[in-house]
Amino acid sequence: MIRLYVNVDHVATLRQARKTYEPDPLDAAIAAERVGAHGITVHLREDRRHIQDHDLERIRNAIKGPLNLEMAAVDEMVGIAQKLRPYQVSLVPEKREEITTEGGLNVLSQEKHLNEVRLKMVDAGILFSLFVDPDFAQIDSAFRVGARSIEINTGPYSECTNIEERERALQKIVEGCRHARDQGLRVFAGHGLKVDNVEAIAAIPEIEELNIGHHLVSRSILIGMEQAVQDVQNAIERGVARRHPSSLRTY
Ligand code: PXP
Repeated sequence: MIRLYVNVDHVATLRQARKTYEPDPLDAAIAAERVGAHGITVHLREDRRHIQDHDLERIRNAIKGPLNLEMAAVDEMVGIAQKLRPYQVSLVPEKREEITTEGGLNVLSQEKHLNEVRLKMVDAGILFSLFVDPDFAQIDSAFRVGARSIEINTGPYSECTNIEERERALQKIVEGCRHARDQGLRVFAGHGLKVDNVEAIAAIPEIEELNIGHHLVSRSILIGMEQAVQDVQNAIERGVARRHPSSLRTY
């Protein structure tokens, strides 16, 4: 069976727009687990634009299943992971000016550094994974670094608007997954996946785990809007019912 990890970052994005306490990514994580999500993913960015340090601790302690922490391979994050000890760490490239993770890690250019980070994670009992493009050279490099699993970047596939382009991007992912499996790597995938493009990815036999975030948070806002408006309308009506009869006006 394929495992679904739900990324709750963008629940925190909405909360941070007001710097308040709602919506709480922990509530979203618990709701996702309630309907069968296998794990929860969060990305602690260096600029803390969505998930905050206190979210990590609370989510780590409250969820029943595994926590996958996405992070940059920098000292600050390595220290946080060593203290927090999530089930898994996925290293991603990070640029301050990007809107979201824009591509896979350049593993080739930093094998020594990534191997050092891996050793620290393994010492702390944390599974170690690298987010890479479906590129044979990067996959081979991930293997040399000692990773036992990789997450294949499905971002370019999910962005294709043209059918032939999408088919080519899918084929690249299929071949990348097969190549990674041939090296003995466990294969995960994610980025930009949604209801109408996930089926072809889930059909790839090597893929064990998917990470999905933005689409789930986007859809849950719309699916939940009717109930949210109804609840507020009911509360307004309860308030109106408490008004003194003489203050009621008819229009
Ligand atoms: N995998 C990685 C490595 C990511 O950085 C992200 C985005 O945080 C995801 C998966 C999930 O992508 P999306 O939010 O587009 O579903």
